[in-house]
Amino acid sequence: MITMSYMCLHFLLALLLSSVLMINGGLAGCRHHQIKSLLHFKNEFDSRSCNHSDYFNGVQCDNTTGAVTKLQLPTGCFTGILKPNSSLFELHHLRYLNLSHNNFTSSSLPSQFSNLNKLEVLSLSSNGFTGKVPSSISNLSLLSSLDISQNELTGSFPLVHNLTNLSILNVSYNHISGNIPFSLLIMKPLLSIVDLTGNHLTGSIDIPNSSFSSKLESLRLGGNEFDAQILEPISKYTTLKDLDLFSLNTSYPIDLRLFSSLKLLTNLRLSGNQLSPAGLTSRSNISLNLENLALSGCGITQFPNFLTSLQSLELLDISNNQIKGKVPEWLWNLPRLRTVSLANNYLTSFKGRGDVLENSSVRILDLALNHFTGPLPMPPLSINLLSAWNNTFTGSIPLEICNRTSLTVLDLSYNNLTGTIPPCLSNFIVVNLRKNNLEGSLPDMFHDGASLRTLDVGYNRLTGKLPRSLMNCSSLKFVSLDHNKIKDTFPFWLKALPDLQALTLRSNKFYGPISTHDKGPLAFPKLRILEISDNNFTGSLPPSFFVNWKASSSLQTDEGGRIYMGDYNNPYYSYEDTLDLQYKGLFMEQGKVLTSYATIDFSRNELQGRIPESIGLLKALIALNLSNNLFTGPIPLSLANVTELESLDLSNNQLSGTIPQGLGSLSFLAYISVAHNQLKGEIPQGTQIIGQPKSSFEYNAGLCGLPLEETCFGTSAPPIQNHEKEDEEEEEQVLNWKGVTAGYGLGVLFGLAIAHVTVKTYKR
Ligand SMILES: *[C@@H]1O[C@H](CO)[C@@H](O)[C@H](O)[C@H]1NC(C)=O
Ligand SMILES: *[C@@H]1O[C@H](CO)[C@@H](O)[C@H](O)[C@H]1NC(C)=O
Ligand SMILES: *[C@@H]1O[C@H](CO)[C@@H](O)[C@H](O)[C@H]1NC(C)=O
Ligand SMILES: *[C@@H]1O[C@H](CO)[C@@H](O)[C@H](O)[C@H]1NC(C)=O
Ligand SMILES: *[C@@H]1O[C@H](CO)[C@@H](O)[C@H](O)[C@H]1NC(C)=O
Ligand SMILES: *[C@@H]1O[C@H](CO)[C@@H](O)[C@H](O)[C@H]1NC(C)=O
Ligand SMILES: *[C@@H]1O[C@H](CO)[C@@H](O)[C@H](O)[C@H]1NC(C)=O
Ligand SMILES: *[C@@H]1O[C@H](CO)[C@@H](O)[C@H](O)[C@H]1NC(C)=O
Ligand SMILES: *[C@@H]1O[C@H](CO)[C@@H](O)[C@H](O)[C@H]1NC(C)=O
Ligand SMILES: *[C@@H]1O[C@H](CO)[C@@H](O)[C@H](O)[C@H]1NC(C)=O
Ligand SMILES: *[C@@H]1O[C@H](CO)[C@@H](O)[C@H](O)[C@H]1NC(C)=O
Ligand SMILES: *[C@@H]1O[C@H](CO)[C@@H](O)[C@H](O)[C@H]1NC(C)=O
Repeated sequence: MITMSYMCLHFLLALLLSSVLMINGGLAGCRHHQIKSLLHFKNEFDSRSCNHSDYFNGVQCDNTTGAVTKLQLPTGCFTGILKPNSSLFELHHLRYLNLSHNNFTSSSLPSQFSNLNKLEVLSLSSNGFTGKVPSSISNLSLLSSLDISQNELTGSFPLVHNLTNLSILNVSYNHISGNIPFSLLIMKPLLSIVDLTGNHLTGSIDIPNSSFSSKLESLRLGGNEFDAQILEPISKYTTLKDLDLFSLNTSYPIDLRLFSSLKLLTNLRLSGNQLSPAGLTSRSNISLNLENLALSGCGITQFPNFLTSLQSLELLDISNNQIKGKVPEWLWNLPRLRTVSLANNYLTSFKGRGDVLENSSVRILDLALNHFTGPLPMPPLSINLLSAWNNTFTGSIPLEICNRTSLTVLDLSYNNLTGTIPPCLSNFIVVNLRKNNLEGSLPDMFHDGASLRTLDVGYNRLTGKLPRSLMNCSSLKFVSLDHNKIKDTFPFWLKALPDLQALTLRSNKFYGPISTHDKGPLAFPKLRILEISDNNFTGSLPPSFFVNWKASSSLQTDEGGRIYMGDYNNPYYSYEDTLDLQYKGLFMEQGKVLTSYATIDFSRNELQGRIPESIGLLKALIALNLSNNLFTGPIPLSLANVTELESLDLSNNQLSGTIPQGLGSLSFLAYISVAHNQLKGEIPQGTQIIGQPKSSFEYNAGLCGLPLEETCFGTSAPPIQNHEKEDEEEEEQVLNWKGVTAGYGLGVLFGLAIAHVTVKTYKR
C-alpha cells in the first residue's frame, strides 16, 4: 500500500511539474521535497471544491534555494482539521502564508505555527478556528502582519508582546476576553493598524506617563465591553487617522472633545454610544480633516452644530437619533459632502428655500422615517439615491427628478404625495412610490433599454391600463401594482420580460381570463411570486397552467444563508424589495422577499373549473391561496408533491371529493383551510393537520376525523376530550396552532425587518 501511494505521488509530481513548467507559473523553481510537502498538505483535507491549478498558482518558491516562500490558499479550498503534524509545518521557509476563507472548522491553532519562524505575513481569517491562540505565536519574531479575524477563538489576548516588527494586527470578530495589554500598542514602534472589533474585551488602558512615538493610524475597538477610561489614552495617539469605537457599552457618555488632539483623524465612528451633549455643541472640538463621521444611535437630540466647521466631510451618518426640528441650511454647503443619512429622527423641515439642496454636492441622501411635512425639496443636481420613505411629504413629485440624470434609486413610499407619476421612470433602477395618493395612469413612456428593476406603485389611486411600453423594461424583476384602480386584462405580454420574478396586481379592477386562448401554460420563465387576488378575473385554468414555471419548479437551497430580492451590487447602498403578504392566515406588511421560494395568491376572483394538476410541479411553492373563487372538482393529488408548502388556503370554493391523504405528510404545512366546500371523507391525520382549528374544515359535505368532532367510524362515542366551555376550546386551538407554527418560524419567506434602502455608511 505504501509503495503504491508513493508511486502515485511521483506520478502526480511528474504530471504537475510538466504542466506547471509549461505555463511557467506556480511551482517553477520549487524543490521536489517542498512540492511533496505541498501535496501532502493538500491531501490532509477534503479539497474537492478546490481548483487544483489555483492551489499551485498561489505558491511561490525562492528561485535560488527552491524553498516555498509563499502560500496563498484559494478561497473555499480546504475542509477539515489542521493537525499539529500537518505537512504545512515542514515548510520552514514560508514568509507569507494566507489560509483565510477556508473551513478548518473546530481545529484549534496548532502551536507548530512557531516552526514557521520566517513568517512575515500570516493570515488565518474566516476559517472556523477554535480554542486559544498558542503562546508560541510570540516566537514569530519577523511577523509584520497577523490576521486571525472572524474565527471562534477564545481565551485571553494573544501574546504579541515580542513581535517587534508587527505593523498590522487583526483579531476582530472572535470571542477573546479580558484586558488588552495596552502597553503592547505603545511598545511597538511599527504598529499602524489594530482591529480588535467584536470580542469580549474589557477594562481600561494604562495611560502612558511619558511621551512615546507611535505610527498607529487605524484603531478599531468597537463591539467590546471597554471602560470609558480607554478614551483618554487613545487621545494620545496623535497619528490616528481612523478610529472606530462603535457600541462600547461605556457606563457614561462619551465627550467628543476628548478627540480634539487627534488632528489627523479622517474617519470616526462612535455609533451606538451615548454622547455627551456638551461635546456636540461647541465648535472646532474635533479634527477639521474628518471625512467620514458616523454617529448613528447616539441619543443626539439637536442637530449637531459643530459639523459646520468640517469642510472636508464626505459622509455623515446621524441616523437613529432623536433629532427634532429643522435641518440647517449650512449642511448643504459643506463642499465635499456626498452621503448623508438623517434617517429615523424627528426632523420636520428644511431651513431655507425649496431649492436649498439643489446645489449641494450630495449624491446619496436618506431622509426616511422622519416627520417631514410640506413639499419635497428639489433634490441636489448630483443626486444618485434619494430615500424619503415614511414621512408626510405632500404635494406632487417635482418634475425636476426627471432632470437628475444620475438619479437611479428613488424611494418616496409611505408619504402623502399627490398628482401624477412623472414620465421618466425608465431612467431609474428602483422606483418605490407605494402608499401615497398618486393618481392618473402609469405613463406609457418606458423606453427601450430602460434600466428599471423594481417598480412599486402599490396603494395609490392609479387608474387606466397598464402601459404596454413596460415591455421595454427588460431588466424588470419586481412589479407591485396592488391596491389601485387599474382596469385592464391580464398582462400576458409581460412574459417577454426575461427576469420578472414577482408580480402583484392585488386589489385592482383587472378582469377576464388568466389563461391564453390556446389553453397552454402561462410560462413566465422566472416568475416566483404571482398575486392577483381581489380582482375580477374569470375563466378556467388548463391542466398545464403551471408547466414551465422554471424558477418555481426547482428548489434552490441558498447555502450562503438567506438571500433576499433586491439590488446588492452597489458599494454605497443596498435596496431590498419588500412585499405585503397574506401568509399562514396572517398579514405581514413590507417584509423582505427571499429569492428561494414561490408564492401564489389567486384568491377573491371568479376563477372556475379544476385546480390544475400541474401545481404539483412547483417544488419551491410555500404559500398557495385559491380561496374565494368558483373552483370545482377534486383537490389535485399532486399537491402532496409540493413538499415545502407551509400555507394552503382553498376555502370558499366548490371543491368536491376527498382531501388527498398525501397532504397529511407535508411536514411544513402550518396553515390549511378547506372550509366552505363540498368535501367529504376522512381528513388526513398528519400531525400538522390535526393541530389546525376546526374552522379550517367546517362547512363541507361530510368531512370526518380530527380536528373535527365527527369520527369516521359510524356513530361512535364523542371524542375523549371533554369540552366544557366553548371559550376554553377556542383558546386551546389557538395554542395548538401556535405550537405548530413555532417550529418553522414566521419568516421563512420574509425577513422580519422592514428594509427598503439601507445606506452603507461606514467603509471597512
Ligand atoms: C481554475 O483556475 C484557473 C486559473 O485561475 C482557471 O483558468 C480555470 O478555469 C479554473 N477551473 C475551474 C474548473 O474553475
Ligand atoms: C529570481 O527572482 C527575482 C524576482 O522574482 C528575479 O529578479 C531574479 O532574476 C530571479 N533569479 C533567477 C536566478 O531566476
Ligand atoms: C488572504 O487571502 C484572501 C482571499 O482568500 C484575501 O482577500 C486577503 O486579502 C489575503 N490577505 C492578505 C494579507 O494578503
Ligand atoms: C498525524 O497524526 C495523526 C493522529 O493524530 C495520524 O493519524 C496521522 O497519520 C499523522 N500524520 C502524519 C503525516 O504523520
Ligand atoms: C465546514 O465543514 C463542516 C464539516 O467538516 C461542515 O459541517 C460545515 O458545513 C462546513 N462549513 C462551511 C461553511 O462549508
Ligand atoms: C520559541 O523558540 C525557541 C527557540 O527559538 C524555543 O526554544 C521555544 O521552545 C519556542 N517556544 C515555543 C512556545 O514554541
Ligand atoms: C519575550 O522575549 C523575552 C526575551 O527575549 C523573553 O524573556 C520572554 O519570555 C518573551 N515573551 C514571550 C511572551 O514570549
Ligand atoms: C413609519 O414610521 C412609524 C414611526 O415613525 C412607524 O410606527 C411605522 O411602522 C412606519 N411605517 C412603516 C411602513 O414602516
Ligand atoms: C430640465 O433641464 C433643462 C435644461 O437643463 C431645462 O430647460 C428644463 O426646464 C428642465 N426641466 C425641469 C422640469 O426642470
Ligand atoms: C394626507 O392627505 C390627505 C388629503 O389628501 C389628508 O386627509 C390626510 O390627513 C393626510 N395624511 C397625513 C398623515 O397627513
Ligand atoms: C367585477 O365585475 C362586476 C361586473 O361584471 C362588477 O359589478 C364588480 O364590481 C367587479 N368587481 C371588481 C372587484 O371590480
Ligand atoms: C409526484 O412526483 C413524482 C416524481 O416527481 C411523480 O412520479 C408523481 O407522479 C407525482 N405525484 C403526483 C400525484 O403527481
